[in-house]
Amino acid sequence: MTTETVRITVEGDAPYDVLIGRGLLGELRGLLGPKVAKVLVVHPRALRSTGEAVRDDLTAQGLEAILAEVPDGEEAKTAEVAAFCWTVLGQSDFTRSDAVVGVGGGAVTDLAGFVAATWLRGVRVVQVPTTLLAMVDAAVGGKTGINTAEGKNLVGSFHPPAGVLCDLDALDTLPPHDLRAGLAEVVKCGFIADERILELVEADVEAATDPHSPVLAELVERAVRVKARVVGEDLKESDLREILNYGHTFAHAVELVERYQWRHGAAVSVGLCYVAELARMAGRLSDADADRHRDVLQSLGLPTTYRGDRWPQLLDAMKRDKKSRGALLRFVVLDGIGRPSRLEGPDPAMLQAAYSEISSS
Ligand SMILES: NC(=O)c1ccc[n+]([C@@H]2O[C@H](COP(=O)([O-])OP(=O)(O)OC[C@H]3O[C@@H](n4cnc5c(N)ncnc54)[C@H](O)[C@@H]3O)[C@@H](O)[C@H]2O)c1
Repeated sequence: MTTETVRITVEGDAPYDVLIGRGLLGELRGLLGPKVAKVLVVHPRALRSTGEAVRDDLTAQGLEAILAEVPDGEEAKTAEVAAFCWTVLGQSDFTRSDAVVGVGGGAVTDLAGFVAATWLRGVRVVQVPTTLLAMVDAAVGGKTGINTAEGKNLVGSFHPPAGVLCDLDALDTLPPHDLRAGLAEVVKCGFIADERILELVEADVEAATDPHSPVLAELVERAVRVKARVVGEDLKESDLREILNYGHTFAHAVELVERYQWRHGAAVSVGLCYVAELARMAGRLSDADADRHRDVLQSLGLPTTYRGDRWPQLLDAMKRDKKSRGALLRFVVLDGIGRPSRLEGPDPAMLQAAYSEISSS
């Protein structure tokens, strides 16, 4: 199916373009810029043939392209894997005008971004996200990072890419669970800033979950526009960017309690339902808008409830979440669809009551 290529510019100190379409590999050279001579193509084991296709394309265009194959998923986001990439860069005499290309899910784009941010104090990186989550979230916005034994994303830096290539053809091989997990972030964008996203899912959930459908292409475009608008105004998470964390305080707590065995998008789905209940109880959100969270996410096959016997652990995890300010729990809540606001220091009884509302037992 042909889809017109969409170009979305992320503003800021160093503006860059996000391209969304199909068969976009030929656009990569342009995003890398004219000065680049060597490229490190970082890809996970599972996407070896995609990594090779990227390398061959760049080689055919006269660049020296070197592959760095890294482990799949979170195993790529370690200091050891970053050090492996630095070794390849060093042994290949990469200079400041050369570049890194990250081909993969959010784990690889986070790693590739971090390697680019740190090599010679920062070289260009172009991201080629291959999961829905990476297209609409991880690859756009300039946050890069790796994990340590003490926690996720504890080491990293802000290093905006020189460009992002969202080739929707990559989604053909993505397992349905991963596609749905990415849709949780898309739906989040719908609630905070673009109601049309919710309407598209409500109108045709089959199309919304079909990687070939123009509906999914439109959802990606709309979600990227929301993120681009927010990070273009506020790269470093001061105030506006915080709205992207809608649903994430509870989601991060679930991820921690589940020892990161849950997909991020699944945790975000439950987190959105939790914070909708909280806003409803605080008198901020109408019953209909709160119910809409559960209905939309449920229609996509995402979890909307969580086990009922984990409150002390969840509360403790939320208090330690890096997005909280001091001892005060702080949530992004909605005063209505597309109207994000803040709720600081809610009554502990209300926090627990909202949990009871989304408890499965
Ligand atoms: N930097 C940010 O702003 C930001 C935002 C959100 C999430 N993240 C990070 O993103 C990561 C999660 O990303 P994810 O959900 O994309 O998971 P992932 O990167 O772990 O990928 C999931 C799995 O899918 C495989 N895969 C990737 N693309 C595929 C494809 N097209 N077909 C088949 N298999 C494919 C991967 O090899 C991996 O095994 C986390 O590390 C999270 O911290 C970063």
